[in-house]
Amino acid sequence: MKSYSIALIPGDGIGRDVTAAAWTVLETVAKNFGFALTGTEFPWSCKFYKDTGRMMPEGGIETLRGFDAILLGAVGWPAEVPDSVSLHGLLLPIRKAFVQYANIRPHRLLSGVTGPLRAENFDILCIRENTEGEYSGAGGRVHQGTLDEVAVETSIFTRAGVERILRFGFEQARSRRRKLASVTKSNAQKYSMVFWDEITRKLAAEYSDVEVTSYHVDALAARMIMAPESLDVVVASNLFGDILTDIGAAIQGGLGYAASANINPDRSAPSMFEPVHGSAPDIAHLGIANPIATIWSGAMMLDHLGEKAAAGRVTKAVEAATARGIGTIPGKDRTDAITHAVVAALI
Ligand code: NAD
Ligand code: IPM
Ligand code: MN
Repeated sequence: MKSYSIALIPGDGIGRDVTAAAWTVLETVAKNFGFALTGTEFPWSCKFYKDTGRMMPEGGIETLRGFDAILLGAVGWPAEVPDSVSLHGLLLPIRKAFVQYANIRPHRLLSGVTGPLRAENFDILCIRENTEGEYSGAGGRVHQGTLDEVAVETSIFTRAGVERILRFGFEQARSRRRKLASVTKSNAQKYSMVFWDEITRKLAAEYSDVEVTSYHVDALAARMIMAPESLDVVVASNLFGDILTDIGAAIQGGLGYAASANINPDRSAPSMFEPVHGSAPDIAHLGIANPIATIWSGAMMLDHLGEKAAAGRVTKAVEAATARGIGTIPGKDRTDAITHAVVAALI
């Protein structure tokens, strides 16, 4: 029997509930399709930091390297550990170390879910650059605490980094509706974003079968609300992609529906699957977190592992549940009830 080893990092807050939910669904579908998933749980989180002084142990990255994939809930408990410590101690180093440069975030309405827009027929695939750009971590502060203080946060865009994410986007567009929106702010940021636009133009000549439009990020943000059906593949830098995908989640009906895959396209290291949302401290421990985003991310994991039929069955089961009105109204159905409805629809 085929077997896949999965590193489970539930993390903080609702991360624990939604990974448990997704794991229940994944184990069931694996059994139905005749393959095995072996989960190894790591308690790396803000609580772990408070106990040990680290978000993950020394050598944590090397421990994860041996797995076929990683399923992560959410990281962050800002009331007790600053986000700058927790995210830079766990989530962001994994994305970087494993060269998960393509962050894929699909945005479409699930059957039965009513989003806030009049538009219903949108199907957007956001491809977010995931390892450099505005998240380079380069910078510093001088004259700290004085009136002369200056803080610098340097964005780093490399030709290799920009070219590979755009190329990834073009390839995705080829397997979809052959439309690509390249997102910058080249009217204001005259080095990195002009550079990005230039590389977009160069690749557009190579992918002449794909219709390419360059948008400024502000205009693209408005377009996602006003005319989301006009978009197919959207490729954006790390920070712009982060913001646009919360808009994407919003037009899907909420953060509880937005899935995310941090992909290492070369397969030289494991890829990581997680919802777009965070640890939601405001609803943690209430048992009402929507697990659909994480279940859907789990389906993306199966797809990446090559279990495409099982992946399709999971997304179908999610939609069978939402079509019946389960998990469609925030707070109405508990996490467990949504999970059970999806599991029941798998058979
Ligand atoms: P958040 O995504 O955790 O929450 C934003 C809002 O959406 C909250 O009102 C929350 O209740 C709601 N929400 C989120 N997920 C939901 C779900 N599954 N079901 C129902 N409602 C849901 O964003 P935030 O409040 O800005 O961040 C909280 C913490 O999470 C911070 O520490 C932040 O840095 C971290 N964070 C982590 C990740 C990650 O690990 N990938 C992503 C985003 C934020
Ligand atoms: C996301 C999150 C993270 C990001 C944060 C928590 C660092 O918002 O995955 O969308 O910005 O990448
Ligand atoms: Mn985000």
